Amino acid sequence: MKKGLFLSMEGSDGCGKTTQMNLLEAALRAEGYSVTRSREPGGTPIAEKIRELILDPGNAEMDERAEALLYAASRAQHIKEVIRPAIERGDVMLCDRFVDSSLVYQGIGRGLGVREVADINLWAISGILPDLTLILYIDFEEGLRRKRLQTADHLDRLEQAAEDFHRRVNEGYKTLAALYPERVVLVDASGSIEEVHEAVMAAIAGHLPEK
Ligand code: TYD
Repeated sequence: MKKGLFLSMEGSDGCGKTTQMNLLEAALRAEGYSVTRSREPGGTPIAEKIRELILDPGNAEMDERAEALLYAASRAQHIKEVIRPAIERGDVMLCDRFVDSSLVYQGIGRGLGVREVADINLWAISGILPDLTLILYIDFEEGLRRKRLQTADHLDRLEQAAEDFHRRVNEGYKTLAALYPERVVLVDASGSIEEVHEAVMAAIAGHLPEK
């Protein structure tokens, strides 16, 4: 069976992930790759509904385990409708966040435990893990500053959470890179947009499938 490349991109709020996803997608298309791009939570109508439920500022009382299960539920749907078909077509599947967001935000940030969150997710994702996960890493303070400049007063429920949550998430990404060195790569995202883009392209070189 022809197999594409499953690539996920991760990072704390404000790391420049959307800009880098745009540049990466454009570069891959320019090189002639067939690209499918999606995001989590979301990516399908059902998963987008789950996204609204999770990120709704009105749902501040949501239980942490309920939240973790909803992320895993939206992921299962996303894999079935988008990710698995794209990989089977031989596409480069570009995903803005995937299971590592749950490991870090729920497992470390909310303190549910990486192993516990990995367990529910491994069941949900039924064996579909990214071939490569790029974590755009910047200092905690720099990320927060960038995010505040962008969004002013439109903070979603998770973004309103305490600063120490974000600090744990940021550190948590480093922990993940150490836990899964065969799959997870830390990319220094502190430089200019062009510098970070070059680092992203360097990280994926050698992993790309046949066109
Ligand atoms: P989004 O607006 O897509 O943020 P970003 O542009 O930073 O990707 O919101 C997604 C939020 O959901 C983000 O704060 C990270 C969080 N999240 C989790 O906590 N767990 C998960 O499994 C995923 C996929 C996202």
